[in-house]
Amino acid sequence: MSERLEDIAVKMVTGGKGLLAADESTSTIKKRFDTIGLESTADSRRDYREMLFRADEAMNDYISGVILYEETLFQKAADGTPLVELIKAAGSIPGIKVDTGAKPMALAPGETITEGLDGLADRLARYHEAGARFAKWRGVIAISDTLPTYGSLKANAHALARYAALCQEAGIVPIVEPECLMDGKPGNHDIARCVEVTEFVLRTVFNELAEMKVDLEGMVLKPNMVIDGKNARKASVAEVAERTVRVLKATVPAAVPGIAFLSGGQSTEEATAHLSAMNATYDMPWALTFSYGRALQEDALKAWGGKCENVAAGQRAFTHRARMNSLAAKGSWKKDLEKAA
Ligand code: 13P
Repeated sequence: MSERLEDIAVKMVTGGKGLLAADESTSTIKKRFDTIGLESTADSRRDYREMLFRADEAMNDYISGVILYEETLFQKAADGTPLVELIKAAGSIPGIKVDTGAKPMALAPGETITEGLDGLADRLARYHEAGARFAKWRGVIAISDTLPTYGSLKANAHALARYAALCQEAGIVPIVEPECLMDGKPGNHDIARCVEVTEFVLRTVFNELAEMKVDLEGMVLKPNMVIDGKNARKASVAEVAERTVRVLKATVPAAVPGIAFLSGGQSTEEATAHLSAMNATYDMPWALTFSYGRALQEDALKAWGGKCENVAAGQRAFTHRARMNSLAAKGSWKKDLEKAA
């Protein structure tokens, strides 16, 4: 039976479900584990992710797909079951981060270019064989008074489009992620500056996607919300929702089936409140959901603390955030549901 990219993309973003970004690179997951004093080893990474993927209610009811790091795609649970099979058994779709990281860009101080295109077609064939049906590539855009430069933005948008085309040829839905940093340096930009940069970034990305003949119906966009910098937060929930929807309406074609936000350094509750406000307030041509890393995992990581006796507590914390964000994807999250838990 042939699978259509369009159907996979719709499944990723609809029904009040969203994506769990569990694709931290080995160096990023080490930073996360440092916060709970846990050594990062292949086994501790496995144990942590296995705990998440075995949280039945969260995985069955709220999570449409999981973005994995390559190690996890080929890793087995403690009892020998491939982790990918746990995800599929819950009716969720395995996905894979395929970029090899944002590296300092030559002659562009303060900016990065995301690498990973060389040999990507061969890797995608292997990932498809291993069960991955969608992929992620993150281009990183710094915001300041003077950044981004057009050269850096253009190079990152071009790489995103080449990656997306390769994915579609391999039968894999590309998540196109241009992240304008909320928590970069200096992180003191106001929301108006974020409007300006995000709008220009999305326009540039969709131009490149068109030039590379990417089928918009077979992709998912993963943008930042329009929000002021982490060191200058003032905008209200309503303002973040309003500005974000306006920028998206001005730049994202209606052919795109869905938009799944990154959390980008927002607190867990902020990320939920913003998503819910957008869905509750506006009519939009695309589904709007979550593809959160930190905002889905932070509480679970803390509750688990690296101890096997805390697995159930970690799963409860993860399930709670997944449920809150599922409600937000339907526009029906309320603050008092947090307290009730
Ligand atoms: P955050 O939600 O923690 O920003 O992570 C999402 C992600 O996948 C970034 O690439």
